[in-house]
Amino acid sequence: QLNGGATFVIFGASGDLARKKTFPALFRLYKNNLLPKSSSILGYARSHLDHDAFLERVVEHIGKDEDKKTIDGFTKLCTYLSGQYDEDESFKKLDQVISKSEDERGMKSGQKNRIFYMALPPSVFLDVAKECHKLALASDEKSVNRVVIEKPFGKDSESCGELLKNLRPLFSENETYRIDHYLGKEMVKNIMPYRFSNTLFSPVWNSTHIDSVQITMKEPFGTEGRGGYFDEYGIVRDVMQNHLLQIMSLIAMERPIGRDAEAIRDEKVKVLRCVKPIELKDVLIGQYVGNGENPGYLDDKTVPKGSLCATYAAMVLWIDNERWDGVPFILKAGKALDKAKVEVRVQYKKVPGSLYGGVSRNETVMRVQPNEVIYNKFNNKTPGLTEHPMVTEMNLTYKERFKNLQIPDAYESLILDVMRGDHSNFVRDDELDAAWRIFTPVLHKIEQDRIKPEPYKYGTRGPEQEARFVQRYGVEQLTEG
Ligand code: BG6
Repeated sequence: QLNGGATFVIFGASGDLARKKTFPALFRLYKNNLLPKSSSILGYARSHLDHDAFLERVVEHIGKDEDKKTIDGFTKLCTYLSGQYDEDESFKKLDQVISKSEDERGMKSGQKNRIFYMALPPSVFLDVAKECHKLALASDEKSVNRVVIEKPFGKDSESCGELLKNLRPLFSENETYRIDHYLGKEMVKNIMPYRFSNTLFSPVWNSTHIDSVQITMKEPFGTEGRGGYFDEYGIVRDVMQNHLLQIMSLIAMERPIGRDAEAIRDEKVKVLRCVKPIELKDVLIGQYVGNGENPGYLDDKTVPKGSLCATYAAMVLWIDNERWDGVPFILKAGKALDKAKVEVRVQYKKVPGSLYGGVSRNETVMRVQPNEVIYNKFNNKTPGLTEHPMVTEMNLTYKERFKNLQIPDAYESLILDVMRGDHSNFVRDDELDAAWRIFTPVLHKIEQDRIKPEPYKYGTRGPEQEARFVQRYGVEQLTEG
């Protein structure tokens, strides 16, 4: 826990991420009295903005229905400073502004905590970290410095290793909070309690009973002006190597010995280390084309001509351990698809015997978004004058079950964790290393061999090859719940 308040320094404050996610999350924490009153929020970026223009941007994404008094109270905590990312002078100025604000708020030694939040492009990332390190060195000894880092954490094993190596002397693992915002999502946070606090489900969570696991992320929009960034990374690095793999590690890990951050992350790393590097035969990639109404990926002016970048991918991961031997974990993600949906679909083995020939398999579905739900598909006697079972669902729809509950945004929950000093939902350095080891060889192969992605139309389910691809791994398309 932080003693006293904290100064949040948000680097990249004029960027999309800060405006759409970081500031609104800080606002909700403030509104719910979870931000210590003596906190201060300092936006820092290169753009020349005056204070009012900055506040206007901050308020823009906070929500129209919030009351003015709360918004005013929050914006009073915010200030903006424009400066360079690689210039000592700018950072000296930043230090002065922070110190002045600490004095004005009457912060004593031990209360001058600083949280450096880097919502920055990779090109300036290390420069800022070095400058923050100097600020941290010069700051009050009894107070804490924490650094929050947003992805991308490199592009492959090598670049990630390099980044980690350069950052290590600047901030310790204990001071570092690497955000994968999926770890702050309500349903993702529910995977551990679901698995480890129910005697009902634990015994079947293995290859004896489970046939396949699919983790799917669909987005109904394309790159829309973000093509410059996206093209350098592609869908696998953008969401699969991090968000979907994090979900997979929670689904597949063993029971940790405790609920502290290290115990949990130890188990996640352990299972990731059992995942074999992905082979090309277990991969399907796609790229969206225009549908008459919406432009194709290559029509985006920020995308280089003739790019082979994948905007869709399905990859099958195999875990080489006793629990999961032979069970395919199928990760699928795509932009410009037919709908917005993130879900985990655990498909069980066929019902043995022929007593009720032709009954459906069981399935557990955890929908992360939109509209959080867990449902278990099971067979039940068709009510009425028949004996035959029909497939139905035990359904826990959050909106219906937990009325009036406001599910916190992922960033809200994660920033609160940073304040509390809880690393459980942040990515440890060895997790990153293990994650890149799984994806790097196949990503390099795809790039070296210039493998062409399969085209799919904007607004569809993805490449038409997908259905056959998943069938190869024994997945049955059961009726949608
Ligand atoms: C980000 C990716 O990490 O996650 C984006 O860079 C993606 O491309 C986003 O759209 C999805 O996040 P969410 O919370 O909207 O599902």
